[in-house]
Amino acid sequence: MKNWTHKNYTVHQFNELESANKTAFEMAEARKIFDREIILADAQSAGKGRQSRVWNSPQGNLYFSLVLQPQLPAQKIAQISFVAITALRLMVEALATNQKIQNKWPNDLLINEKKVAGLLLESKVSQKDCEFVIVGIGLNIVSNPDQTIFPADNLKNLGIEITPEIALKNFLNEFEKLYENYLNFGFAGIRKLWLAKAFRLNEKINVKNGEEEIFGIFFDLDEEGNLVLETAEGRKIISAADIYS
Ligand code: BTN
Repeated sequence: MKNWTHKNYTVHQFNELESANKTAFEMAEARKIFDREIILADAQSAGKGRQSRVWNSPQGNLYFSLVLQPQLPAQKIAQISFVAITALRLMVEALATNQKIQNKWPNDLLINEKKVAGLLLESKVSQKDCEFVIVGIGLNIVSNPDQTIFPADNLKNLGIEITPEIALKNFLNEFEKLYENYLNFGFAGIRKLWLAKAFRLNEKINVKNGEEEIFGIFFDLDEEGNLVLETAEGRKIISAADIYS
């Protein structure tokens, strides 16, 4: 294990972990790591994706989990994931000019309609307030899984060369600006930035949550980060699902 700092962030870097999110959660719970500390893994043996999926994590890509301790009521915690994915988008936009870069609800990053990064948010809440949040991000730098339901890609394949450490530092530079803005002024600015580059906004989409499948027009992102879908039966507020097409 190696410790280093970048600005006001402390990074704990491991060769391999089961899951950076798992380690970050356990250490935050044990009060061994605090606000703005990061668990970085060069590889993960049991990386976790959203909806209990596996996140393949061979060497060469970026896998990290950022601990934050904002004073927030529980229902606002999901907003943090939009701050983080927007920061990641700005960071990738600076590297991949001339490519179509979008965020896909809830927290994926797409280049030319292929997924290059995902985010898993976990949190601990006590008495309806946030104790800590873990923002786990996986960025495909040199490889991506094939056979995914939604197509995936990686930065190297798009001609972008960067190391995981530099990618993390670039991300933190963008994140700190947006996070400060969010803490001081709230979600409105972030929501606007996110909506400006939202995949399939105002278009027909197919949303799936387990066995349930709903069709409608992607109408909006609400204050709590839910997807607002205009369906034949009226507006539906969706808090957890995947957009498939
Ligand atoms: C998704 O798109 O399904 C979210 C993927 C999140 C992967 C990251 S990699 C670092 C952190 N540790 C994990 O086990 N998962 C997240």
